[in-house]
Amino acid sequence: MQSLIIFASGRGSNAAAIIDYFKNNGLAKVSLIVTNKADAGVIEVAEKEHIPFLIVNNETLKGHLFIDQLQSYNPSLIVLAGFLKKIPDTVLQAFTNKIINIHPSLLPKHGGKGMYGHHVHQAVLDGGDKESGITIHMVNEHYDEGAIITQARCQVAEQETIDTLAQKVHQLEHFYFPRTIEFLLQQM
Ligand code: GRF
Repeated sequence: MQSLIIFASGRGSNAAAIIDYFKNNGLAKVSLIVTNKADAGVIEVAEKEHIPFLIVNNETLKGHLFIDQLQSYNPSLIVLAGFLKKIPDTVLQAFTNKIINIHPSLLPKHGGKGMYGHHVHQAVLDGGDKESGITIHMVNEHYDEGAIITQARCQVAEQETIDTLAQKVHQLEHFYFPRTIEFLLQQM
């Protein structure tokens, strides 16, 4: 059974989709959830599923103890699902090629520092884009610039709003993120 660690700062709907997908699948399980927000919805997800969680701050993120804690779960992948802090170099080096992220647009469009959640969807609407979607990519030292693993697309309708676009994108995320993780695990 392979081990996954999820990092998330928000409500954790992607974390929940990943946990559900692997629940009866026999390939992997989510063994730890890391968040930087003490009131993040993802903590409720962790508690409901009886998955241990860690709340980190900028200092703990950079420390050796944190890396030891992560290593103790022997993760095949560290999955960033809406984690809003930059991953420090120490963690990148300890888990080379094992950290992936999901971004709610078709990178390289609408990525980079400060581009998350509704900011991304607003930029898509402001830019008059006819399509948007998701990008699952490797994580490197620059925001949203690691090698792209896969993308999925949706149409942007004439009357699209931030909320309706966010809904479409979340649907893509919940379908493709667990399946992409499964694909990656099967190559290991
Ligand atoms: C997702 O849209 C993801 O693309 C972005 O943050 C959001 C997290 O949503 N990076 P949730 O907490 O999984 O609901």
